[in-house]
Amino acid sequence: MNSWPDTGTSAALRQKYATDLALDRDGEWLQAFADVPRHVFVPRYFTQGTDTAWQPVSWGDVGYLEAVYADAALTTQLDEQGIPTSSSSQPSVMLAMLEALDVHDGHRVFELGTGTGYNTALLSHRLGEARVTSVDVDPGLVAAAIGRLKQAGHSPTLAAGDGALGYPRRAPYDRIIATAGLHAIPPALLEQAAEGAVIVAPLGYGIVRAQVTAPGHATGRFLPTPAHFMALRAASTAPDLDAVRGENPGRTSVAPRDVLERLKFPLSLALPGYTSCTWKDDHGQVTAVGLWTADGSVATVDTTGTVRQSGPVRLWDSVEELAATFTDNIARDDFLLTITPTRQTVTYRETGGPGWHLPTLSR
Ligand SMILES: C[S@@+](CC[C@H](N)C(=O)[O-])C[C@H]1O[C@@H](n2cnc3c(N)ncnc32)[C@H](O)[C@@H]1O
Repeated sequence: MNSWPDTGTSAALRQKYATDLALDRDGEWLQAFADVPRHVFVPRYFTQGTDTAWQPVSWGDVGYLEAVYADAALTTQLDEQGIPTSSSSQPSVMLAMLEALDVHDGHRVFELGTGTGYNTALLSHRLGEARVTSVDVDPGLVAAAIGRLKQAGHSPTLAAGDGALGYPRRAPYDRIIATAGLHAIPPALLEQAAEGAVIVAPLGYGIVRAQVTAPGHATGRFLPTPAHFMALRAASTAPDLDAVRGENPGRTSVAPRDVLERLKFPLSLALPGYTSCTWKDDHGQVTAVGLWTADGSVATVDTTGTVRQSGPVRLWDSVEELAATFTDNIARDDFLLTITPTRQTVTYRETGGPGWHLPTLSR
C-alpha cells in the first residue's frame, strides 16, 4: 500500500500527464512517468507573483496538483536571497534527456544533480535501484530525496558531494546524466565512464549527447531541445556596473533581444558561464541588457544601440562576431562536441564553421 497520498484526482492527472508527454514517442518511458508520483518528490514548489515575491504552493493548495502534473519546471528550493537553488526540471526536457541516454537493461547510471529525486526515481523505475547512483552537492536535498525515493519504493545509491567528481566507488558507468548546467564535461566523469558510455548533459544553453569512443575521448551532437538548467553551484560574482557606466560608449546594430534569444546558445559556448540581466520600462519592455563573466568583464547595450564594455574581455565584441556568423535561426543539433584527453571543443557544422574550446576543468 502507498504511504503517500494519491487521490483519484492525482492519479488521473498523472496518467494524462504521462500520456501527453509520451505522445508520438516509442513509449519506453511512458510507464515510468505514469507510475512515479511527481507530487511525492515535489511536495512544495515556489511560484513568483507579479510583485516577484515567492509563494509556496503545496498539497491542498489551489492548482498544486495541476502544476505538478503539467509540463513545467518547478522551483523547489530558494536561498536566503530568494535565488532558486534547486528545481524539478521540465518533464518534456527530462524525457528528451532520458531518451537520448538510450538506457538498456543492466546499464549502470550515474546522475549529477539529485535535486528532488524525481529523475532518480524514473531511472530506478526503468533500470532497478541497484543500477542507479546519484549525487547532489546539497546534503539536505539528498536526505530529503532518500526519504521520498523510499516512499516511492526505491533505494538507489545517493550521496552528498560535488557531482563533478562523480562517484568512483560505483564506477564504471554505462550512462551518465547531468541535470545541472555544465561548462564542459568534468574529467572525473570521463574517467568513470565505461567503454562506449553515453553522456547526456546540459552544456551552456544546450544539451549534449556524447559517446565515449576511447579512454578520455568522446564525441556527439547537441539535442535540438533548448535548455535552461541551474548551473553547477559556484561562488557568484556581482558585475561592476559602475565601472561600465564610466566607459566611453560605442555603437552596435545588434539588438538586445538577439542576446536574450537567438544568440543565447552560441554565446553560452563562446562565453562559458556568462550571466545576463535586463532593464525594463514601466510597460515591461526591455530597454537594455547587461552581460558579465566571472573574470569581471561587463558589457551593457540599450535599444538605441549604445554599448559600453569594461574588464579584461570585450564581451560585446563576441556578440558582434556571433551576430555576423549566425544570421539565421540556429539549430542546436548543428553543433558537435569533440572531447580528447587535452581538449573539449564545440564546432558548428564541422567544416569551416566557428569553434570554441570549452574551459578545462581542474577537477
Ligand atoms: C535542476 S536541479 C536537478 C533536478 C533533479 N534531477 C530532479 O529531478 O529534481 C539541479 C541540481 O543540481 C545540484 N547541483 C548543483 N551543483 C552541483 C554539484 N557541483 N554537484 C552535484 N549537484 C549539484 C543542485 O543542488 C540542484 O539540486
